[in-house]
Amino acid sequence: MKIAVLPGDGIGPEIVAQAVNVLKGLKLDLEMTEAPIGGAGYEAAGDPLPDATLQLAKEADAVLLGAVGDWKYDKLERHLRPERGLLRIRKELNLFANLRPALLYPELASASTLKPEVVSGLDIMIVRELTGDIYFGQPRGISTLENGEREGINTMRYNESEIKRIGRVAFDIAMKRNKKVCSVDKANVLETTELWRQVMIELSKDYPEVELSHMYVDNAAMQLIRAPKQFDVMVTGNIFGDILSDEASMLTGSIGMLPSASLDANNKGMYEPSHGSAPDIAGKNIANPLATILSAAMMLRYTFNDETNAVRIENAVKKALADGYRTADIYTEGTKKVTCSDMGAAVLAAL
Ligand code: IPM
Ligand code: MG
Repeated sequence: MKIAVLPGDGIGPEIVAQAVNVLKGLKLDLEMTEAPIGGAGYEAAGDPLPDATLQLAKEADAVLLGAVGDWKYDKLERHLRPERGLLRIRKELNLFANLRPALLYPELASASTLKPEVVSGLDIMIVRELTGDIYFGQPRGISTLENGEREGINTMRYNESEIKRIGRVAFDIAMKRNKKVCSVDKANVLETTELWRQVMIELSKDYPEVELSHMYVDNAAMQLIRAPKQFDVMVTGNIFGDILSDEASMLTGSIGMLPSASLDANNKGMYEPSHGSAPDIAGKNIANPLATILSAAMMLRYTFNDETNAVRIENAVKKALADGYRTADIYTEGTKKVTCSDMGAAVLAAL
């Protein structure tokens, strides 16, 4: 099993190192090769997605990614910025299905800013479309109008087959869970998402057991805070999914807990924490490695079909939390505050 390991920028290298240790601890036959992406790619090869990195990722069965981005690259031309590397690799590998589970570990109920009774038992799967929408739609750009004023343009667009394939992923996942899909759109204003809603309704005919509901994105943002346990699977487009998944992560106590899988049509996948590169705390060994470690578990589950070892990692994370280990972001009084590498070591020990 070949894994391309792309640590990236900021806290990426620290958190990825812990996930790699945990994977090694399973004593599986894994071949892991590292390559730079994002700002690290720009430094190494003048490109946020160097050719060699893309090649490695294409040849691998799965990709383990840390995070990309650092303020120091904000002044670069757009195509050289770290985020372009991430968006390009998603597109090049055709990773259209982004799964972001928001799961509350009981031990962390008090780390959430919401009341424990609102979040306890929370288990939501956000299915975010990842290679379309306003993120990739043409035309785009900033141009100067005849009157000398500048104008920015992005285009929200989805075609039917793009909506259908992400819808199928959501329905298939719901069949293995509580058989509820909530499709999030803005069909009252945006035609793109009016089509989205129609296609979801058509598709639902193939899944008579699944209960399909629809929600406008503004309401969904509110409902996630008001009564998050009403959701099972949420399916939505790229930009709404970006925003709602950050919001959902905080229900679980910290965005540092939220893993993700980005899959193509054959379950090849890229696995990364849903959070960013947090350059402000990079190199301090205080970041939370659990989202990345849990992403490695998702890799075993979705790409390598190895449920046993996926569950082993998830149980080891639960054990580390039950033993009271907490990184700064999830620390509450009475628990043990530990560093990034100590948390990794605690998970490894629990394996
Ligand atoms: C995410 C991130 C990325 C996105 C950025 C870094 C381009 O926010 O994975 O959610 O917007 O998709
Ligand atoms: Mg995001």
